[in-house]
Amino acid sequence: MNMTTARPDPSGQAVPLGATLQLRDLVKRYGPGPAAVDGINLDVAANEFVVLVGPSGCGKSTTLRLIAGLEEVTDGVIAIAGDQVNHLGAAARDVAMVFQNYALYPHMNVAQNIGFGLRRRGASRAEAKKAVAEAAEILELTELMHRLPGDLSGGQKQRVAMGRAIVRNPRLFLFDEPLSNLDARLRLTMRTEIKRLHARVPTTTIYVTHDQTEAMTMADRVVVMNAGKIEQIGTPMEIYDAPVSRFVAGFVGAPAMTFADGMLDDQGLTLNTGLHLSCTAQHRGPVTLGLRPEALTLGDSGMAAKLDMLEPLGAETLALWQTEALGAVWVRMPPDPTLRPGATAHLQPDMTRAHLFDPVTGRRVT
Ligand SMILES: Nc1ncnc2c1ncn2[C@@H]1O[C@H](COP(=O)(O)OP(=O)(O)OP(=O)(O)O)[C@@H](O)[C@H]1O
Ligand SMILES: [Mg+2]
Repeated sequence: MNMTTARPDPSGQAVPLGATLQLRDLVKRYGPGPAAVDGINLDVAANEFVVLVGPSGCGKSTTLRLIAGLEEVTDGVIAIAGDQVNHLGAAARDVAMVFQNYALYPHMNVAQNIGFGLRRRGASRAEAKKAVAEAAEILELTELMHRLPGDLSGGQKQRVAMGRAIVRNPRLFLFDEPLSNLDARLRLTMRTEIKRLHARVPTTTIYVTHDQTEAMTMADRVVVMNAGKIEQIGTPMEIYDAPVSRFVAGFVGAPAMTFADGMLDDQGLTLNTGLHLSCTAQHRGPVTLGLRPEALTLGDSGMAAKLDMLEPLGAETLALWQTEALGAVWVRMPPDPTLRPGATAHLQPDMTRAHLFDPVTGRRVT
């Protein structure tokens, strides 16, 4: 069963410490052509919450399925709690996976769905009942135990699927876009619930999403993948504040960063459009400038801009401005009820918050 060490929780009960996970030069090929997972290395600490993000087809689900034992590794090593598990089948890995479609049994009620498989794994009737009751309480499903999946909301179904994962008390939790079938409001609620669950029942967790708000708000560390490889691993703030590449910079953050090519010399940064910006970076040569929406402010001087579109969000407003120097650029602004599309203004970039990338390699330059 659980080979990891146990530690007492506040109620005095032994709670298993989640397992560590190591991926070493992990490769998965489905056939000829580029590998789906192309040599990734990752170290996940016990009880850490790691989020995998990246564009469609970059290998997120494949990575999870390799860890779960649902796919065979082409090359490399997977170790759970320090032990290589490549040769172990899915059942023996003691890992629970929650998918996007909840895969509940329609003819079984909530309690039966949560407890499914527990008896087969050797739990006594009493143990199974207790585990199900505890999971239901954590997930606030106690009142719904006798309902069938057909009579549940999307969020409730998702909680039942999580309940089934929790009762197994797995060494690892794997989530593959568990919230992507839910509407925006429910996603927010469930996001909070999954975080609360992780705080209450700490377990090493790998969570796949392409919703970057989920990634930023849930992760201890974010792993950004691109074409089967890891582009960057870091805390959400590291990824946001110091993206290692133009790819990461463009993928993380909404609205997206604005990019413009130019040349850095002793006089500063001159964009190809002619705009000159003072810049203290040591680097010389061609660069790609990246500006996030909060790195631009409205002022009396700077580049001429015309307001194209407004997205008032209440506490702040996102405004899309058209400029000669940067093209279309998103700016994060305080709410201004007098602004209308068509308005003109000047935009001033805060160059202390600018990001610079090598236009050829896409790597960050300092
Ligand atoms: N069973 C399979 N057989 C062949 N190719 C596959 C298989 N599963 C995935 N692939 C390919 O492997 C690559 C990675 O797929 P994967 O499902 O891991 O991507 P993903 O990052 O999860 O994408 P998405 O965000 O769309 O879910 C893709 O090119 C995909 O077409
Ligand atoms: Mg996927």
